[in-house]
Amino acid sequence: MKIIASLSNVLDSNVEVVYVPVFEEFPKYASKELPEKVVAKIKEAMNDKKFEGKLKQCYSVYWSDKKTFIAMGVGKKEDYNSDKLRQVCSSATRCAVNKKVKSYAFFLDGNLVDVNLEKAVQSFSESTLLSLYKFNVLKTKDKNNENLKEIVILLEHKKLEVASKAIKESQEVVESISRMRDLVNLPPNIVNPSYIVNEAKKVAKKYKLKCTVLGRKEIEKNNLNLLKAVSLGSDEEPALVVLEYNGAKNKKPVVLVGKGITYDSGGLNIKPYIGRGPAMRNMKTDMAGSALMFATIEAAARLRLDCNVVAVLALSENMINGRAYKCDDVVKSHAGLTVEITNTDAEGRLVLADALSYSKKFSPSYIINAATLTGASMLAVGYMGACLMGNDKELLEKLQISASCTGERLWELPLWEEYNELLDSSVADLKNSHEAAGPGTVVAGMFLQNFVEGMKWAHLDIASVSTTEKDRHFTKSGSTGFGVRLLVDFLKKQ
Ligand code: BES
Ligand code: MG
Ligand code: ZN
Repeated sequence: MKIIASLSNVLDSNVEVVYVPVFEEFPKYASKELPEKVVAKIKEAMNDKKFEGKLKQCYSVYWSDKKTFIAMGVGKKEDYNSDKLRQVCSSATRCAVNKKVKSYAFFLDGNLVDVNLEKAVQSFSESTLLSLYKFNVLKTKDKNNENLKEIVILLEHKKLEVASKAIKESQEVVESISRMRDLVNLPPNIVNPSYIVNEAKKVAKKYKLKCTVLGRKEIEKNNLNLLKAVSLGSDEEPALVVLEYNGAKNKKPVVLVGKGITYDSGGLNIKPYIGRGPAMRNMKTDMAGSALMFATIEAAARLRLDCNVVAVLALSENMINGRAYKCDDVVKSHAGLTVEITNTDAEGRLVLADALSYSKKFSPSYIINAATLTGASMLAVGYMGACLMGNDKELLEKLQISASCTGERLWELPLWEEYNELLDSSVADLKNSHEAAGPGTVVAGMFLQNFVEGMKWAHLDIASVSTTEKDRHFTKSGSTGFGVRLLVDFLKKQ
């Protein structure tokens, strides 16, 4: 799939379909470059109320055997922002794919670009490429092949170089996002800890990253006892993978820690059947935090970002056998704190706790972890964003800036110290879950906070956004790839 930026005239471009953006206020805010005939047709459709310019509304204007113009609604001008642009671009792509179009152009006129050409082109190509993602490697039949071969971004601005660079960068980032989506979408009988270890080794070789793998023995030697405890019920060997990207001299690294439970059965507190089905369904996605951090460091390396990054992936299955860890077990963490296990299904915070305190040795400027940590995060924010917590105001603000630049939304939840009492244990320093109803997502954050002493830390609970059942904007059912664009934007600003 080729995306190119071009200055050629809307009428001349050598494609089957041309999308023309139309605000509700049309012809106000329409480009002066639009051919009069096209303007007239759109006006006519609007007068007849066949088309109103509402966000993502489409109206075809037949032109010739070779070309169709599609007026693409972008809503009200005052509501327009890069989020809307992404939605419009993915609709255009979906529509073109459904129509089996081979090539189309999208007129990214000055009103859509607003102030920043690079950002607009980036939003265009990221959302377009993301909406073309398919996961059909496991299908042996009915693989519908893509017709679409070429997309042209028609520009009014004469800065083609800036646009081409933005396209190139987006392609790199989307490659990494696709890697993440594949890892999350692949089933748990394929993606187990050793599969991710092998992938990490391959990527490390390709992009000259340093890669260290701690297996069962090293995990024991390093007192990563919480990670070990979670892994006991599984025949698969756990691992702690450390990837290091060195893109700058004399800068402390940003450390990215990911939860990598390749299957979460719940352990002895086995996941029940609730409501519409088994809660265990889709627990292959419980390694999305690790997949996110893996994809982010890969993207940083692809883009040769001017910063240092360490990705720490805490990999294990959460299963059941005769050796599985139990409720009432007390385990001494890597940090030295003792933890009473009160729920074997609250395993993510355990593997993360050890990975976080282990990461102190990298002297991080910031440490950020991502995890599909709590079902409660969906109750807190639904499915349109992730929950953010942390102990450093500046870091949280920086992440919020990246969230608004990329449209990958974050919502901050409070770590009020009074909630520490919810984790009081009568036999150990703390327990891993509170039994009563309460602020489950916050409690998980409070738990992690005990293991990041002396570090500027943020926690992303991505359980609400890492996968989706429905196709939504540029994400199809399955893994959304949430977080890569957010963290790459954050790293670019370090
Ligand atoms: N992996 C789950 C969280 C989850 C739930 C992710 C739904 C994606 C979709 C996590 O390990 C878990 O089981 N959390 C428990 C915590 C509880 C036992 C304190 C939960 O959220 O119910
Ligand atoms: Mg669990
Ligand atoms: Zn889990």
